[in-house]
Amino acid sequence: MNRKVTVVGGAGNVGATVARAIADKELADVVIIDLAEQKAAGVGLDMLEACPIEGSDSRVVGFGANDEGWAQTAGSDVVVVTSGVPRKPGMSRDDLLQINYKIMQSVTEQIVRYSPQTIIVPVANPLDAMCQAVYRLSGFPRERVIGMAGVLDSARMRTFIAMELNVSVENVHAFVLGGHGDTMVPLPRYSTVAGIPITELLSPERIEAISKRTADGGAEITKLVGTSAWYAPGSATAEMVETILKDKKKILPCSVFLQGEYGINDLFVGVPVKLGARGVEQIVQITLTPEENAALQKSAGAVRELVDVIKV
Ligand code: 2OP
Repeated sequence: MNRKVTVVGGAGNVGATVARAIADKELADVVIIDLAEQKAAGVGLDMLEACPIEGSDSRVVGFGANDEGWAQTAGSDVVVVTSGVPRKPGMSRDDLLQINYKIMQSVTEQIVRYSPQTIIVPVANPLDAMCQAVYRLSGFPRERVIGMAGVLDSARMRTFIAMELNVSVENVHAFVLGGHGDTMVPLPRYSTVAGIPITELLSPERIEAISKRTADGGAEITKLVGTSAWYAPGSATAEMVETILKDKKKILPCSVFLQGEYGINDLFVGVPVKLGARGVEQIVQITLTPEENAALQKSAGAVRELVDVIKV
């Protein structure tokens, strides 16, 4: 393969799910970096041994987060950052702020050193604040730091809509904007089944229940499993990586650095963007009702409180 994707924290649940998806789809060679050096080597080898069965010639290797390991990441096309402490039941994503910020500091330094032209996809929580930290620390243009949140939140909403209407998930599109936290903004008007807005198909009460379950989606899994989700976050991240590597120009909700779009300045918030080989190729501005806009601004306010704490 002539493409390379590094997954930092790749021996963990989310990272391994992303790495496996990239290898299975033969999108790129994969370098796993993890503090747990031996586990990284083992997880990488296990995935490599799955490749003959999957019909993939992706080369997967795992290294510790040391100089030797980081040197293997040189020239990565995309670096996914899943390292960080996950939530435990009862914790909010915001509770992880300080500890994961420290991790972003050391990880970003190595990414810039070895892959100065790469596109970074942060996945660690609290997502939008960690994106802002990585963006500031890297000095990269805003097109090359793209947070994974909206694809996951929208997938959860799509799941719940499909369950409610007993239709194929393939018929369902959904948009969730805002920060990846309790204030996220599901947009029923822009959520459709075979092109029909769900506002035509479901009662306001059912839509409200679906929106609430979507916003609580991460906590629902954390409570059931005892730690953060990984399958849906991993698949969501892999979709973003595939879109970038194949220059597909899909429009996906991602956390990006806004500079006036949606009336928000100098802050990472989830909005629809066109993703391609250059990273963020366009920020798509859709018309919001006063209520939707108020919810988005409130969500941006919650992100701003966090970035102010870590001063990024
Ligand atoms: C979630 O929502 C891990 O934040 C992630 O499940």
